[in-house]
Amino acid sequence: MSSGDKLIIFDTTLRDGEQSPGASMTKDEKVRIAKALERMRVDIIEAGFPIASPGDFESVQAVAEAVKDSTVCGLARALEKDINRAGEALKNANSSRIHTFIATSPIHMKMKLRMEPDMVLEQAVAAVKMARKFTDNVEFSPEDAGRSETDFLCRVIEAVIKAGATTINIPDTVGYNLPNQFGDLIGTLIHRIPNSDKAVFSVHCHNDLGLAVANSLSAVLNGARQVECTINGLGERAGNASLEEVVMAVRTRQDLFTCDTTLDTTQIVPCSRLVSGITGFPVQPNKAIVGANAFAHESGIHQDGVLKSRETYEIMRAQDVGWKENRIVLGKHSGRNALKTRLEDLGIDLGSEEELNDAFARFKDLADKKHEIFDEDLQALVADTNKMAINEHVKLVRLKVCSETGEIPEADIVINLNGEECSATAKGSGPVDAAYKAIEQVVKSNTELQLYSVNNITSGTDSQGEVTVRLSHNGRIVHGQGADTDIVVASAKAYINALNKVMLPEDREHPQLGDV
Ligand code: KIV
Ligand code: ZN
Repeated sequence: MSSGDKLIIFDTTLRDGEQSPGASMTKDEKVRIAKALERMRVDIIEAGFPIASPGDFESVQAVAEAVKDSTVCGLARALEKDINRAGEALKNANSSRIHTFIATSPIHMKMKLRMEPDMVLEQAVAAVKMARKFTDNVEFSPEDAGRSETDFLCRVIEAVIKAGATTINIPDTVGYNLPNQFGDLIGTLIHRIPNSDKAVFSVHCHNDLGLAVANSLSAVLNGARQVECTINGLGERAGNASLEEVVMAVRTRQDLFTCDTTLDTTQIVPCSRLVSGITGFPVQPNKAIVGANAFAHESGIHQDGVLKSRETYEIMRAQDVGWKENRIVLGKHSGRNALKTRLEDLGIDLGSEEELNDAFARFKDLADKKHEIFDEDLQALVADTNKMAINEHVKLVRLKVCSETGEIPEADIVINLNGEECSATAKGSGPVDAAYKAIEQVVKSNTELQLYSVNNITSGTDSQGEVTVRLSHNGRIVHGQGADTDIVVASAKAYINALNKVMLPEDREHPQLGDV
């Protein structure tokens, strides 16, 4: 594939995706997602914002060490301290990129940066030169380009390319643009900037008007050759352009696009599940490509058409994006090796023997309750195992719930709180409410429950229920997830998972707010 035919995929799930309230991930979780992105053959993985906190620095460092085939990128404001920190975090990467940015729109320059345009231009050029000392792969973004003046954008971009930027990323930071307008902007920049052929033009669209994917595709039709996107469209506010939608639109409409990605699209669904499981952000059933209904044919007419000829109602093949038939993969009599092999087939590497032993014990437990174990059950089981390993200030020891018609439900709970077993009893309007009240009697978390949702992982009444909760604590949002064949237990696990996240300190800086 020649360079003009290739559409570079830059995934920012671990950076912009993590800026979604409540989507923060631990270092190990980030490494697992990065490995899944590498398996999908994503070209560039933006692993984080190293100056944000020591934890963010270590995460970028760990991803840089774990990933071999994709380029690993770190974000830095156009500041010396940020660039040095990013360079240091990426030191051991096989292939690294520094992504530096500064705002160029009148409103951001005046109200946020309090800088004159010429100073912004100077700082942008200096930042690119600094970044080039660490790597010859430097990306520059004029933040809020979607609301910047085109003449000023042209001046800044020409200057940063001269200073050594190899990728120019045009962000629609606040998701304000419309597809024609944004496509025209990209075409105009490429046409008007005299040295535009020395850099790859990239786009980074936010979804505030639901147009992030449309704007990105319009930009590609006008010459952009890199798209920044996230798994499941995760990201700041309404999110970023969704990787799966951009990639499959370009792949499906090769009659219109003159470029394509080199991604292994069969990794899309497993990767979507992994990100949803780790962040606790469920995927809506009608979400394109990765939603549970994306390839389901409910109506009789559609089913009849699909049976006669798939193309009547399907423009993509479910297998091409990684959907598999629900298959019984393991059962009560399956051994440790069978579990290990199946997990490896699913791209899940448990790391240590201890983790495998733990997962096996939990698998046996599940197989006792549920005779047919599907891939989805295994994915949920591993997600649960990892949640336990992350942070265990609060552990569920025992839960008993009595619920009877005409009686008020009551829960008895035993919780291990920082090593000490504590019990409580509470009544509630339902069994879940009673269980949550009992947990609160012990933990006294002072959190507010903002969302509670249950999904079944597979079909059938013996399926595991997967519960997602969102808690708010002093303005901070966290998500928790739990899975079990008993949905009250799944609910308690999800609540406890979220409480454990609340107890983790958060001392990070946001890249687009604060210091300049
Ligand atoms: O949305 C945005 O402008 C960003 C930049 C840091 C590229 O995320
Ligand atoms: Zn962004």
